[in-house]
Amino acid sequence: MTQTVMDKPDPMTHPLQDRFGRRVTYVRISITDRCDFRCLYCMSEEMEFLPRPQILTLEELYQVSRAFVELGVDKIRITGGEPLVRKGAVGLMAQISQLPGLGEVVLTTNGSHLVQEAKHLKAAGVRRINVSLDSLKPERFRQLTRVGDLAGVLAGIDTALNQGFEKIKINAVILRNRNHDEICDLVNYAIGKGIDISFIEEMPLGRVEGHDRAGEYCSSDEIRQRLEGVFELLPSMVSTGGPARYYRVAGTGTRIGFISPHSHNFCGTCNRVRVTAEGRLLLCLGNEHSVDLKAVLRTEANGIEALKSAIVASMAIKPERHHFDLKAEPMILRHMNATGG
Ligand code: GTP
Ligand code: 5AD
Ligand code: SF4
Repeated sequence: MTQTVMDKPDPMTHPLQDRFGRRVTYVRISITDRCDFRCLYCMSEEMEFLPRPQILTLEELYQVSRAFVELGVDKIRITGGEPLVRKGAVGLMAQISQLPGLGEVVLTTNGSHLVQEAKHLKAAGVRRINVSLDSLKPERFRQLTRVGDLAGVLAGIDTALNQGFEKIKINAVILRNRNHDEICDLVNYAIGKGIDISFIEEMPLGRVEGHDRAGEYCSSDEIRQRLEGVFELLPSMVSTGGPARYYRVAGTGTRIGFISPHSHNFCGTCNRVRVTAEGRLLLCLGNEHSVDLKAVLRTEANGIEALKSAIVASMAIKPERHHFDLKAEPMILRHMNATGG
């Protein structure tokens, strides 16, 4: 693969700026819609996955990453589905991490492959890993993921910790009467491991059965208030460039993040876009505005320049904000696994 060395664009003339003056510096790329889990807030039990030819190839994913980095993006997060079920995922991350000008390549995973892959991910230049962990009870973990094995994920987290990544963070989607009674246990687990944890409010993406999204909603404020009865939380100004608001747990190295799309809208400071496994550039998680980058890749002769032009032009349609409503039928029919979160 060839690379063009480019200086990072001057922030004053950053080419990826939308109508609301927001600069896009963070791209989340889903490299597969497939997953070895079936988390009940993410997928329905019976899912049809995309046929292989519809998915961007590894070379196409690399070209898309390169185009974004040349346009001044400095953080790429690899997501899925479960990214590590895709053959060649680690090699792709190794190539992306070499792109001149990229600050960091980071990964969001369900943790099921970390025992085998953590060492290779470190060698590939992945800086930070976010692992989804909604319960520390094996039976409940299996219910929430429908098929997942908690012990394998915990062993994966330990393997990753031994590799010395810059940061490992836990993500927990909290649902009333499913796992809201575990928030203190999850924080104590994070403290014990010396890592951070984020609590996420569920978003209504795609139809899911057997789960009442509105009835099981648990707000970040409620979680924080409950935690404050047990831990001393100190507001922190730290930002990873993601949507979480952080608090430090006094006397520990652990920070608690709250990702609150419903209760504390963070769209005003949105700095990100996402690319689906199919190569659709989605300008917002909660809207359908998108550009078909796969079509550009597969029809335009001057590949990288055409890609960059399409990406720059997409800034004109980045919506101001999402309008999630847990009580209504989901407006966004794509599931989270197709989007990468
Ligand atoms: P850090 O780099 O550690 O800050 O990670 P991150 O929070 O950016 O990424 P992660 O993959 O851990 O995402 C955590 C949750 O935040 C997921 O549920 C995402 O769907 C959600 N999230 C990330 N970006 C957005 C966004 O732009 N809008 C909304 N509504 N949710 C988002
Ligand atoms: N709402 C909020 N978060 C979700 N995730 C998956 N589906 C949803 C949803 N509907 C989370 C996963 C993972 C992250 C990428 O997104 O738990 O941590
Ligand atoms: Fe798989 Fe992640 Fe969706 Fe769970 S949330 S089913 S681990 S893609």
